[in-house]
Amino acid sequence: MIKIAVMGHGVVGSGVVEVLLKNGSKIAQKAGQPVEIKKILDIRKFPDSPLAERFTDNFEDIVNDSEIEIVVETIGGLKPAYDFVKRCLLAGKSVVTSNKELVAEKGDELLKIAREKNLNFLFEASVGGGIPILRPLDQCLAANQVYEIAGILNGTTNFVLTKMIRDGVPFEDALELAQKNGYAERDPSADIQGHDVCRKICILASLAFGKHVYPRQVHTEGIQNITLDDVKYASAIGGVIKLIGRASKREDGRLDCIVAPMIIPETSQLADVNDVFNGILVRGDAIGDVVFYGQGAGKLPTASAVVADIIDEAKHISRPKILNWEPGEEGYVADYLQNPVSVMLRFKCSDASAVQSLVEGQLGKCERVVVKNAPQDELALVTPTVEEYKIHQAVGLLAGAKLVSFIRIAEL
Ligand code: HSE
Repeated sequence: MIKIAVMGHGVVGSGVVEVLLKNGSKIAQKAGQPVEIKKILDIRKFPDSPLAERFTDNFEDIVNDSEIEIVVETIGGLKPAYDFVKRCLLAGKSVVTSNKELVAEKGDELLKIAREKNLNFLFEASVGGGIPILRPLDQCLAANQVYEIAGILNGTTNFVLTKMIRDGVPFEDALELAQKNGYAERDPSADIQGHDVCRKICILASLAFGKHVYPRQVHTEGIQNITLDDVKYASAIGGVIKLIGRASKREDGRLDCIVAPMIIPETSQLADVNDVFNGILVRGDAIGDVVFYGQGAGKLPTASAVVADIIDEAKHISRPKILNWEPGEEGYVADYLQNPVSVMLRFKCSDASAVQSLVEGQLGKCERVVVKNAPQDELALVTPTVEEYKIHQAVGLLAGAKLVSFIRIAEL
């Protein structure tokens, strides 16, 4: 029998408890021993829970309990999760977490402590919800030089964009529905503004390329400014808009890493990733392209990944699994403005031909995009592929034209 504690009884934590209780005998078989939840940490009371008497609001009850060998953290955020997880590791307990902010900000430090203490620190659920991605990336693709990862990594925004694209549902209504379904973060701006995707691409890039990528190093944009008109223009060039987290290795050893809404071809495998589903494309020199697909958010899919980590840790309690990367460094992620990119620009202007000539004078030939019933004063252009700073410079030189939309185009 192995005893564990679960910290946090929100959407994911309660799902973990539910799965452990429901599938107890199957889990015991896989783990080689029964897994008993000895304590659950939450400041709230849950009198109707079958484990009501095991709740505590005092972290010390967990960290000081020498019988507890594995601690599951599903509190989310850095405070107090970082302090709690660090103390658990220092106290000799292996940790499982679903907390992407924690891993993206502090993963290198926590992995180091785990390594030094001969413990496990696993976080499969922190990226892609229920999709197995970190373990396959680390183990099954170990023979490859992975050179690019690009993914739809946020269920909430993918759900919102899908509703906008398929049903013409306004942004706010779609977001409210996503929140009701329990997909969104406590503060949905982390989803909408791209921070959640940023954390996840940082974790993927750190694991794939071996050095920590910190969220502050990654240029991040969200979907808050995407409109139904943008959706229409994307469709006119055979594309769909998806919020993409992308990381690739440069020849100089640094990384390109960015989070932004991008127009991807309708024929891309990622274009068919809809609703709350996530899709992650990994490109490796031996495997070619491989896509991981599944539910990227939600109580039970995420709990499924957490419980799999608990089983893995129970099986390897005195035999740590090696999941590792080195601390990051300034300058490791290259300036995104130096990256070659093609962009769909949309302007309000009184003289479309003059504006097009001016842009083309700076950047070279652009493709004009026309949609039915567009207002007279609207101009949409697809730029050639040039370093991104040149596009900003060209737009900055225009007088008499208001930029209303700037969406990168990605050949994924
Ligand atoms: N808010 C996140 C999402 C939850 O919508 O994908 C899973 O990380």
